[in-house]
Amino acid sequence: MDTILELKKLQKHYSIRGGVLRRQVNTVRALDGIDLDIYRGECLGLVGESGCGKTTTGKAIVRLHAATAGSIHFHPANGDADMDIARVPRRRLKKMGLRSKLQMVFQDPTTSLNPRMLVKNIIAEPIRERERLTARQLEDRVLELLVMVGLTRDHLLRYPHEFSGGQRQRIAVARAIAASPEFIVLDEPTSALDVSVQAQILNLLQQLRRKLNLTYLFVSHHLLVVKYIATRIAVMYLGKIVELAPTDQLFADPRHPYTCALLSGIPIPEVGPRPARMVLTGDVPSPLNPPDACRFHTRCPFCIAICREQEPPLEKNGRGYAACHRKNEVPGLVATQYG
Ligand SMILES: Nc1ncnc2c1ncn2[C@@H]1O[C@H](COP(=O)(O)OP(=O)(O)O)[C@@H](O)[C@H]1O
Ligand SMILES: [Mg+2]
Repeated sequence: MDTILELKKLQKHYSIRGGVLRRQVNTVRALDGIDLDIYRGECLGLVGESGCGKTTTGKAIVRLHAATAGSIHFHPANGDADMDIARVPRRRLKKMGLRSKLQMVFQDPTTSLNPRMLVKNIIAEPIRERERLTARQLEDRVLELLVMVGLTRDHLLRYPHEFSGGQRQRIAVARAIAASPEFIVLDEPTSALDVSVQAQILNLLQQLRRKLNLTYLFVSHHLLVVKYIATRIAVMYLGKIVELAPTDQLFADPRHPYTCALLSGIPIPEVGPRPARMVLTGDVPSPLNPPDACRFHTRCPFCIAICREQEPPLEKNGRGYAACHRKNEVPGLVATQYG
């Protein structure tokens, strides 16, 4: 497998400051040691409940945030030497082309698009930053991108508020691909849209990935959306990856109890035979003070002594990986307790 990005022991801690002296009073351990390889050309889904660290992961990769520790190795397609993005100084990101090669599309296009700019200029901006084109060439390029995302020449001279939510997200996608990226973080790109529009945007994203040889990290709290578009899925819980597997394996043979619980919340016809209901009790613990050893032990129905004592490593399971001391027993445990 050709790897485009390698995350090693990646950490992002946010400092919470308080009082008149703005002293650091607390630390949010939003990402607490993530190891992840992303393959060139794939769409890797990243799922988990709100607050588990999905957006933080995306922002660290495109360097909207600086990581607290760990590395992010990027292997550009042109064969240039790989580099640790986490260590490139902020002022050099643009010069090294990283700002354009690594893009991010956000959930809400209403806030991510400048309301005072014409669509034409919104899309032209990232091109102007990289290339010197004549006005005519630039206009042709913008039009080509607009058509690629399913819009037309008529839309060039309008403002974002004149569009529907789905069309605005198409504009945001055009802006992202205008930079000629290799990798795009799609952060819940369809969550704010009507169900009927969601599928259209997902199909558009699939087409673009193939046509432009893009690699995606597709972030969502919704497993079915990710199932539709992702080749592999990583499941996050409280700043850690607990399971990572090809999409078909994750749905057919989940090994982490948290993945099982997420899957059992999906209506049966979508996933075939599933345990009736594996409802988790208790709230998600705070990332200010995550549980020791296995982070999931406070909510896990299959917790035993070792789970409170040792952190389970992310270990090979079939074609994927799971971080659970009981990963080999989990299918049987789920069947007997919830079958
Ligand atoms: N700028 C920030 N300052 C402090 N805490 C933050 C900040 N951004 C996110 N967090 C916290 O980090 C954790 C992970 O957040 P996030 O990555 O947005 O999760 P997700 O995208 O999975 O919902 C949450 O507890 C969130 O409250
Ligand atoms: Mg988020």
